[in-house]
Amino acid sequence: MRVVIEPDYEGMSRKAAAMVADLVRRKPDCVLGLATGSTPIGLYKELIRLSREDGLDFSRVTTFNLDEYHGLAPEHDQCYRYFMEKNLFEGLKTRPKRTSVPDGLARDVDGYCASYEKAIKDSGGIDLQVLGIGGDGHIAFNEPGSSLGSRTRLVVLTEETITDNSRFFASADDVPRFALTMGVATILEARKCLLLASGIKKSKVVREAIEGPVTSQITASALQLHPDTFAFLDEDAADLLELKDYYKHVEKMYGEHGVGRRAAVAATR
Ligand code: PGA
Repeated sequence: MRVVIEPDYEGMSRKAAAMVADLVRRKPDCVLGLATGSTPIGLYKELIRLSREDGLDFSRVTTFNLDEYHGLAPEHDQCYRYFMEKNLFEGLKTRPKRTSVPDGLARDVDGYCASYEKAIKDSGGIDLQVLGIGGDGHIAFNEPGSSLGSRTRLVVLTEETITDNSRFFASADDVPRFALTMGVATILEARKCLLLASGIKKSKVVREAIEGPVTSQITASALQLHPDTFAFLDEDAADLLELKDYYKHVEKMYGEHGVGRRAAVAATR
């Protein structure tokens, strides 16, 4: 895993956005996996800026979102379809060709989840997956105990996630208890993963995910098994990493020596 540490949230967001933009330029019909939550908002703002000021063209891009609350209508202002419209799609100069967010009102949940997996496969698979990390170590809504072989399915949210997300709802009682989520194995099939984390509150779980054992108790740790994952962190989120200085040294070396494609991220300043 490449661990890229930037001084602040803005720098981290710009660097992650540069990697997404580079893919969209090289492969205009790419498939992006997208995430919701507070963390990727800066990345999305930068993509909107690049689309409006630099002509970054999303018109041939396909997107799949990671997850959705179960039981919320698409117009609900806390559902993830609404979030994506407001925080990315509506702002882009050219909207992606096709955008998919799991349908939180699907009746035949199992059949729907299988069809979501099939749609990803039929699109050619996800080229780049954006991910946040939850306070309980989840990626998407793969809560502790989720099988590392899990696929898209209905899950029960943890109390920690409900409390974390209650800041967006009138009260914790209003937070849905179920969600549809891509599984850990679904995520690991993406060709590239970008894990974003910011703030001191995430520092402990970031250390567990990046430097701890691979475990279903911290599903983000499964990314250690993925051959092409970048963790974009700000200094606060990186605070407890034991090998922080080494990760910085690695990025500096790739940047200075321009060795193969590994140098690319260092060049995207
Ligand atoms: P956050 O959520 O970006 O709002 O911290 C991350 C997550 O739960 O995946």
